Amino acid sequence: MKSFKEAFLKILSLYIADPKSHARWLNTLSYLENCGAKKIAKTEHPIDVSKEMLKHASEEFRHAFYLKQQITTRLGIYLPTYQKDKLWGSFFTFRYLDRLEVKICRLLKQKLPRLNKSQIQQHTYLLVTYAIELRAAELYPIYQDLLIQTKSPVSVRSILLDEKGHLEEMEKELAAQSISKEIQSATVAIESELCKTWLEKLLNQIRGGIIPFEEVYSLSQKNPQFNSFINCVNYK
Ligand SMILES: [Fe+2]
Ligand SMILES: [Fe+2]
Repeated sequence: MKSFKEAFLKILSLYIADPKSHARWLNTLSYLENCGAKKIAKTEHPIDVSKEMLKHASEEFRHAFYLKQQITTRLGIYLPTYQKDKLWGSFFTFRYLDRLEVKICRLLKQKLPRLNKSQIQQHTYLLVTYAIELRAAELYPIYQDLLIQTKSPVSVRSILLDEKGHLEEMEKELAAQSISKEIQSATVAIESELCKTWLEKLLNQIRGGIIPFEEVYSLSQKNPQFNSFINCVNYK
């Protein structure tokens, strides 16, 4: 997986410095968690549903709720919907997981033409979830560290622990289904491309002046750790 640590640091430190932007970021993450949960629920067999799958879906729904709840309880902001102007990344955020799913499904049809429809669905679910968990394993620790450094009232610690377990579970599943390393690498490369584009969209919105520079700058004076990050972002 291509790491985007630096980009996440830049973007998240700016969001955290501005409560309205931070609320919008929590809403963006909540939206993505909810999408992930719905994808797991959609893949469930009508009768044959494992305890692990129930646990995974319920935890992703909980993450969506938990993030949404903190917008109000910790930041005192009310964002009742996932409308475009209440999320970062605009339409790209809306379509992130769908795009990933379509591309992985196409990859499987091309590389493993013998799979039947239900096998394609099952493999797509496993690979999409694996790629998301890998990205979550990079993103949440960076976010949590920044929240601690900036003494933010927001916390994602409980999510971080769940995501660690999910990644281990998906790795186990991929091995059990004998999905090749080549397909796994191709999946991760697809997600990395999508994530890169998503981060570019987020940075473009910041450069577009959506986050008020003066506000972030004055906060950076109080919190020196912001300085190194804000200097990296090319404001207008
Ligand atoms: Fe999650
Ligand atoms: Fe997860």
